[in-house]
Amino acid sequence: MSSFPAVRLRRFRRTAALRGLAAETRLDLRDFVMPLFACPGEGVVRPLEGLPAIAQRSVDELCREAEELQALGVRALLLFGIPESKDDEASGAYDADGIVQRALRELQARCPELVLLTDVCLCEYTAHGHCGVVSGEGIDNDASLELLARTAVSHAEAGAAAVCPSDMMDGRVGRIREALDDAGLTETPIVSYAAKYASAFYGPFREVAESTPAFGDRRSYQLDGANVREALRECELDVREGADALLVKPALPYLDVIRAVRERFDLPVWAYNVSGEYALVKAAAARGWLDERQAALESLTAIKRAGADVVVSYWTGELARWL
Ligand code: PBG
Repeated sequence: MSSFPAVRLRRFRRTAALRGLAAETRLDLRDFVMPLFACPGEGVVRPLEGLPAIAQRSVDELCREAEELQALGVRALLLFGIPESKDDEASGAYDADGIVQRALRELQARCPELVLLTDVCLCEYTAHGHCGVVSGEGIDNDASLELLARTAVSHAEAGAAAVCPSDMMDGRVGRIREALDDAGLTETPIVSYAAKYASAFYGPFREVAESTPAFGDRRSYQLDGANVREALRECELDVREGADALLVKPALPYLDVIRAVRERFDLPVWAYNVSGEYALVKAAAARGWLDERQAALESLTAIKRAGADVVVSYWTGELARWL
C-alpha cells in the first residue's frame, strides 16, 4: 500500500505553491545578522576586491549603510573594527574611544532598533595579527584573557547588545562573563564562537579586516577541521562558563558540526557563513558559472536545515531584497 504507485512524492512538487506548503525550512530575515566593518576617517567607503559588495566604512558611512539595511528589514549587525594603529597589546580593541566603541555609540543614536553585536577578538588590533598576546613563538592564553575581557566590557559599555568572542583562547567565556558581571553588565549575553575552525575560508575577511597573521597561522588555537567530538567539548566548556549561544564557523563545510551541536545542546545555535563561502559564489557568478541568488538561497537554506537558529552572512542585505 505505502509504496508506488499509491505513493507519489512528486504530488507536492507540482507547483510553487504546493512546494511552499511542503517546505520544511524557511528563510526569515529575523534570523540573519549582517557583518559590517568600521574604519577611521570620514566619508570613507573602501570596497575590497576580495570580498565583493562589502566595504570598510567610516562611522558616518556605516550609519548610512545601517539605516539602509534597517529600512530593508535587517534587524541585527555584527561589527568589526579596523583601528587607526595596531600594537602588541591590541590597545585599540579596548579603548573607550576605539573604532568599534565609537561606531556603537553613533549607531545606537541613529538606529536604536538595530541589534548591535560585536566580534570580540584581538587580531584586528595586534601588530602581528594574532588573536591573542604573543609570547616567544606562541600565543599566551592566560595573558590574552585579560585583554579580551576588557574588550568585551568596553563594547558592552558602548552599547553592544551582545558580545561574540571569536579568539578561541581557553577559558575566555568564563573570564568575559565574570568581567561583564563585575562591571554590572549582567544582562549582556555572550554568543561564543565555540566551534571555530582553522579555515582557509577566512581568506577574504582577513583582507577586509587587515588581520592576516604576520607569522605562522592560527592552528595552535582554532579547531582542526578533522574534529567534531573536540568541537562538542569546546561547546560543553563554553556552556559551563556561561555562554548564552553557541556559534559554529565556517558553516557550509561544517554542516555536520552544526547538526551535532544542535542535537547535543539546547542553547541557540548560530552559524557563520564566512567570507570564503560567500566570495566563491560571487566569483563564480561573476563568470556566469552559476546564478548567485539561487546559490545563495540554497546555501542559507542548507545552513538553517542543518540546525542553525541564527546565521551571520554577508548576503543578509541582499537577502532582504530577495525575500
Ligand atoms: C576574528 C574573526 C575572523 C573571522 C571572524 N572573526 C578571522 C579569523 O579568525 O581569522 C572570519 C570571518 C569571515 O571569514 O567571514 N578572529
